[in-house]
Amino acid sequence: MSASLPFAHVPHPAPTAAAVRAEVLANPGFGTRFTDHMVSIDWSEDKGWHDAQVLPYGPIPLDPAASVLHYAQEIFEGLKAYRHPDGSMALFRPDANARRFNASARRLAMPELPEDLFVEAIRQLVRADKDWFPTVEGGSLYLRPFMIATEAFLGVRPAKQYKFLVIASPAGNYFKSGAPAVSIWVSDYTRAAPGGTGAAKCGGNYAASLVPTAEAFAQGHDQVLFLDAAEHKWIEELGGMNLFFVFADGSLITPPLTGTILPGITRDSLLTLAREEGLTVREERYSLDQWRADAASGQLVEVFACGTAAVVTPVGKVADRNGDFTIGSGGPGQLTGKLKARLTAIQRGEAPDSHGWVSVLD
Ligand code: PLP
Ligand code: COI
Repeated sequence: MSASLPFAHVPHPAPTAAAVRAEVLANPGFGTRFTDHMVSIDWSEDKGWHDAQVLPYGPIPLDPAASVLHYAQEIFEGLKAYRHPDGSMALFRPDANARRFNASARRLAMPELPEDLFVEAIRQLVRADKDWFPTVEGGSLYLRPFMIATEAFLGVRPAKQYKFLVIASPAGNYFKSGAPAVSIWVSDYTRAAPGGTGAAKCGGNYAASLVPTAEAFAQGHDQVLFLDAAEHKWIEELGGMNLFFVFADGSLITPPLTGTILPGITRDSLLTLAREEGLTVREERYSLDQWRADAASGQLVEVFACGTAAVVTPVGKVADRNGDFTIGSGGPGQLTGKLKARLTAIQRGEAPDSHGWVSVLD
């Protein structure tokens, strides 16, 4: 499959006024404002991928019987574009998002999108909305590619029509609290079971995480943490981020990719950077009991969450039904800060990219 699909361009007839846009870009928050355009590509059994367009951002026509509305046949991705100091625009590891998108597509019985078409769609949108990069420190343009089943059919089987879309949203900090470290709630609910869809980035996983997330918020925490489904003992991941544990001897642990957690691209990048720093990093199961004991003994000194939206965020406090405990000083740790600085310098074009992770837009 090749990406040689022509993109039709329909410019927005009334784009956002420059003064309004400037206000949004100075204080973007996360995920509430969208740029002037979006990308749409359709798929059908007879035509395959067709009708690629960059068009004005807006509602999409959808039959009320569309499968996505009934059986949640939907997958998505999240990645960021950055404005580099030399003025160029760049994506971070978009090929990795393309591969994960297709892994999700296979799990949800959806058609795969050629990787170069996935990346080209994103590039087309970033170029069309190049004036939408936030002006705040740490800002970026968050891209949300997704695919939905559009066939009007109520039988339960894979749909025969799909739409791939990309929207863009100027992004600042994911966490509103602005606290130096976040607090997490260990849920009694399960996110993903062996053989389920935990490793796929499908909307259904997030729907199932909303009650536990609301519980976490109601108790004053910033994020929810899920344990494994079988023993309710082993740390898996947060609602929208992977986790790393940093020990007093300088080594790190992150839960292994057993099929129930999302294979984070930030996780993978940090594994590489930490190993390059000469640190020992183990992808190994780690239990909540051990975590509590190691935090109490001082063996465990830092914990951080990582993901595209959250970047690298220190975890200061953990709570479950039995009480809470603090990690280290409860604030950002040194190694967390160092790894975050290494990663963001590469993403932002402030340090050399020796891994071929940065994809500059022409
Ligand atoms: N885990 C979950 C459940 C997520 O939603 C995300 C965010 O995409 C991550 C982990 C981190 O993945 P990535 O680093 O690729 O953004
Ligand atoms: C991302 O980090 O891109 C995600 O999709 C996670 C979500 C919580 C915003």
